Amino acid sequence: MIYNKKIMSDLLKGKTAVITGAGRGIGQATAILFAKEGAKLLLCDLDREPLGETVSKVKSLGANVIGLTCNVTKQDDCTNVMKTAAEKLGNGSIDILANIAGITHDKVIHKMSLEDWNFILGVNLTGTFNCVFAASPYMRDAAKKEEEKSGKTQTRSIINISSTSGTTGNAGQINYAASKAGIIGLTKTVAKEWARFNVTCNAVAPGVIETRLTQTRKPGEDFGIPEEQKQMITMLQKQTGLNRDLGQPTDVAKVVLFFASDLASYVTGQVLTVAGGMIGSI
Ligand SMILES: NC(=O)c1ccc[n+]([C@@H]2O[C@H](COP(=O)([O-])OP(=O)(O)OC[C@H]3O[C@@H](n4cnc5c(N)ncnc54)[C@H](O)[C@@H]3O)[C@@H](O)[C@H]2O)c1
Repeated sequence: MIYNKKIMSDLLKGKTAVITGAGRGIGQATAILFAKEGAKLLLCDLDREPLGETVSKVKSLGANVIGLTCNVTKQDDCTNVMKTAAEKLGNGSIDILANIAGITHDKVIHKMSLEDWNFILGVNLTGTFNCVFAASPYMRDAAKKEEEKSGKTQTRSIINISSTSGTTGNAGQINYAASKAGIIGLTKTVAKEWARFNVTCNAVAPGVIETRLTQTRKPGEDFGIPEEQKQMITMLQKQTGLNRDLGQPTDVAKVVLFFASDLASYVTGQVLTVAGGMIGSI
């Protein structure tokens, strides 16, 4: 992962951003990129140790950062995260919410237990709802107060992570695909309800990106991709995809940054696929 390369400068200067799932993969890459662009960061993750690593990396870049462990399935945790971000970093307001926490438990339909179905819907879809709901006082209501006071509101942005599984379906991922398709409905609804408050809400739909979720599946682990399937995806990407290489977390983080910045201030309710040219092929 490239930590030192500067893409642009100060795109998020002074903005307060909350990133869920910041301990690993796409969330960590987004935290590093946001820090380089001048954001103040509230980073949260279920797992304390990887979260601590990201916080250290971001601190070494000079960013103002707070790390909090949080389970996005628990409303109280989400409330605590948003309240802390607004009160300790944002003067009562949150500018950017990147809902990146997510997980897989893949099985074909006839082997999918109700427990696995509910678990994935709970983390990916309900977790995203919980975070948007908990951020509402500091995004929607904060904008309403600004409007009443001065007749103007600043732009705020929410970025959710869907998946090509959600946009096109994927064999072996009925729970995950449904959760990621649900995120698209959620995104478009927030976009419609909150456009009048200048809160944008967009989704990024990555294809296969090299992270813990797409590593070759080890025995006894619930996430990862079976070795043969991973080889097939890698071969397809090498033959026909952009860069001839699998996507990296920074490839997604750059698009999250676009939606978080003023570059996308007149864009809402959109789903942008980030799949290196592998559109509908896997
Ligand atoms: N890697 C891919 O190919 C790919 C493709 C499409 C979408 N996505 C999505 O991108 C997002 C990031 O995934 P990644 O690939 O970086 O995976 P990752 O496993 O590297 O990172 C996900 C992070 O989310 C955290 N998390 C999981 N459950 C949580 C919970 N209940 N509360 C708080 N944090 C929780 C994990 O601890 C982990 O640090 C996910 O939403 C995933 O579904 C990934």
